[in-house]
Amino acid sequence: MTSSTHVLAKKSISRRKIIGAAGIGLSTLPLMSTQVFAAVSDNARPQAPYRASTAEQKLDIISLDRLAVKARGAIPKEGYAFVSGGAGAEWTLRENRRAFNDYRIAAKRLVGLSNGDIDIRTSLLGLDMPSPIMVAPMGAHRMVHEKGEVDTARGAGLANILYCSSGASNATLEEIAQATTGPKWFQLYWNNDDRVTRSLLTRAKKAGYSAIVLTADALGPGRPEDFIAMGNPFRPDATFGNHDPEKGGFGDFGDQKTALTVKDIQFTKQFTGLPVIVKGILRPDDADRFIRAGADAIQVSNHGGRQIDGVPAGITALPPIVAAVNNRVPVILDGGVRRGIDIIRAVAMGADAVAIGRPFMYGLGLGGAQGVQSVAEHINNDLKSALLLSGASKLSDLNPDFIEIVGQNEEYSTFDG
Ligand SMILES: Cc1cc2nc3c(=O)[nH]c(=O)nc-3n(C[C@H](O)[C@H](O)[C@H](O)COP(=O)(O)O)c2cc1C
Repeated sequence: MTSSTHVLAKKSISRRKIIGAAGIGLSTLPLMSTQVFAAVSDNARPQAPYRASTAEQKLDIISLDRLAVKARGAIPKEGYAFVSGGAGAEWTLRENRRAFNDYRIAAKRLVGLSNGDIDIRTSLLGLDMPSPIMVAPMGAHRMVHEKGEVDTARGAGLANILYCSSGASNATLEEIAQATTGPKWFQLYWNNDDRVTRSLLTRAKKAGYSAIVLTADALGPGRPEDFIAMGNPFRPDATFGNHDPEKGGFGDFGDQKTALTVKDIQFTKQFTGLPVIVKGILRPDDADRFIRAGADAIQVSNHGGRQIDGVPAGITALPPIVAAVNNRVPVILDGGVRRGIDIIRAVAMGADAVAIGRPFMYGLGLGGAQGVQSVAEHINNDLKSALLLSGASKLSDLNPDFIEIVGQNEEYSTFDG
């Protein structure tokens, strides 16, 4: 941690300790894993037939905040509660948005740029990407749209952006791979039964996924309080596709291994021969340890504030992690990225790419594959405009000189989606 982030962290604790104290305690985590998965497999309250959206349309998006408001009114309340909420008192969820304000953009003027000069293309682990955005791995897309991940992946392909398929998908990883024409990664939830884990990795490689994301921070699917209060209404008719025996799968999704170590990074690499991205990193010493163990990229993330409340925002954790990584591997950031200016901040402070979660779910619910495509196009256009207004023509022009660190600011006042 740099001294400036230390100061920020201290201020943050003193101003906000009362709210943060209501979060989930570390000591409850081992228990939680069993409880949470049990809730998914056994205790989900049987629902009346659940119909999610079947919409298929392009969306006219003004901002992703406004899109979240629209989604709240349009997708089933169970789906919205599942997607929108965070762990505990949701301090970290809010912090994921607010903390961007700690880093102000030191925009440059009279630098001779016009629209035609702006280029947001980049590359990541051998992939040429039209922009630095990707779809973050998210489970259970049929909570918001009948076609689930198949449409999200198709929409990502329409925009040619990287789709990361969650191990907790309702569709199978093969169905998802077929649906997208764009690049794709597979996110693994490690199973206690090694045969299940190996089978998932073998299938992912065969289906054409070009990298494996090892999620290090999840001991169960996020269950926001509003969702718990509704009785955990997961759809009884939407199972975890990758484990469906009728579709070539086996094993119990809920039987997940929580006792992961760096050896699992090494195993994943050796077993698949694919690059491994370790996701859910918030500490520089963890990043260093995982790179030494063979990680090919680090994803700075707090799981969208869905796992443990009270941890810092991704953007707060980013600068010391970038320093520790020291250009050895790419760094991806996620958590609260909603605007082009958020991406400017992340890239200027050393991120190579950003993953975006909830807005793609809202795009899916409101417009199916075309809605997902609209979200990608919106954020790419917003990034182009932000780059021009910051006085940079391409992402590689951005560096910490574009950022002013100002410390804790007022709460983020716009609706948090
Ligand atoms: C509904 C939902 C389901 C998620 N499921 C997973 C998952 O299965 N695996 C995973 O690694 N992360 C999962 N995440 C976390 C996302 O990958 C990502 O870290 C987070 O959504 C980024 O924050 P944002 O939603 O503010 O953009 C999930 C997030 C949401 C909102």
